[in-house]
Amino acid sequence: MVTVEAWSFGFVLLWFSTLSYYYPVHAADDTNSSLGASFIFGDSLVDAGNNNYLSTLSRANIPPNGIDFKASGGNPTGRYTNGRTIGDIVGEELGIPNYAVPYLAPNSTGRAILYGVNRLGLDIQIDFFNNTRKQFDALLGASKAKDYISKRSIFSITIGANDFLNNYLLPVLSIGARISQSPDAFIDDMISHFRNQLTRLYQLDARKFVVGNVGPIGCIPYQKTINQLNENECVDLANKLAIQYNGRLKDLLTEMNGKLPGSVFVHANVYDLVLELITNYKQYGFTSASKACCGNGGQFAGIIPCGPTSSMCDDRDKHVFWDPYHPSEAANLIIARQLLNGNTKVISPVNLKQLRNL
Ligand SMILES: *[C@@H]1O[C@H](CO)[C@@H](O)[C@H](O)[C@H]1NC(C)=O
Ligand SMILES: *[C@@H]1O[C@H](CO)[C@@H](O)[C@H](O)[C@H]1NC(C)=O
Ligand SMILES: *[C@@H]1O[C@H](CO)[C@@H](O)[C@H](O)[C@H]1NC(C)=O
Repeated sequence: MVTVEAWSFGFVLLWFSTLSYYYPVHAADDTNSSLGASFIFGDSLVDAGNNNYLSTLSRANIPPNGIDFKASGGNPTGRYTNGRTIGDIVGEELGIPNYAVPYLAPNSTGRAILYGVNRLGLDIQIDFFNNTRKQFDALLGASKAKDYISKRSIFSITIGANDFLNNYLLPVLSIGARISQSPDAFIDDMISHFRNQLTRLYQLDARKFVVGNVGPIGCIPYQKTINQLNENECVDLANKLAIQYNGRLKDLLTEMNGKLPGSVFVHANVYDLVLELITNYKQYGFTSASKACCGNGGQFAGIIPCGPTSSMCDDRDKHVFWDPYHPSEAANLIIARQLLNGNTKVISPVNLKQLRNL
């Protein structure tokens, strides 16, 4: 939920689905818990397994993904990490009784597979939520449903990293986009599109929002490997784009807070959080912030995504990165706790515990 973030999947050449949506199965029958539902929109950083159901080569439902995920007995679920995602951890701490299931699971209501899409963008995720929203009306009655969505639900949105990693920065495929669009124009488009998407969610009664900015994508093993960097270097262009976008995103959230009555848009500063973790990794108990624990290729195991034939490190909780793109559960835990309890440098105007209690 924080985009929570920054890490996305970027496989070579083909372009795959990394977007996901968590369906709050227990939302309707658990109206007494302090937080009702956590709706998570975004990319592979927070995917609970939607990619399992899409025609995509980007899969995390293969071992050893999930090896430390107790809820599945160590079996892969589609989460792109060894254990819990940031969304899982935040949900636990806020008192949501069950882990989210992927919206696209055959027994849930999304069925995007019927659309034949292999990339589930945020627009479609919001369409799905529009359907879910109607089911809430049917289950709870219109007025209770509105209360539940607006007061007891948190909407977390994590996007952006893919637009840079798999589009703007991708060699070959992005040349067209890069030639025809300056970074300014590209980011302008992203921001105005995002403004519309947030407004749609508001129209569907969402009021408590958490929006993660883009992390230091120039520091992920994938980018470090393909650019042949040294251990403590990051890719300058990638990080500069992220910083430029993040500045505009912060302004957008301020604008939305002023414009949409009754809304709270919380800004999660994932960029600074993750950069701190990478820079001072030893202080946090890690031994590596550059090499993927599970992956293959190049100095940082950053080319081939994690799968059964990958090499895997022994000390998974000592690596900031699980695979070429995504943090380990140990890193997710640190990031999640900062988002839950952190100060305004990290998350503002309120942290997630405070947001829940508003
Ligand atoms: C919710 O709270 C009400 C009133 O306190 C109680 O009657 C009801 O049984 C509770 N429902 C659940 C599912 O715990
Ligand atoms: C959906 O199916 C999965 C896998 O079969 C199962 O674990 C989960 O409990 C099911 N969810 C619901 C709401 O039935
Ligand atoms: C939700 O769906 C209805 C049609 O069922 C449509 O009229 C409405 O514009 C949609 N709302 C949003 C915000 O997409």
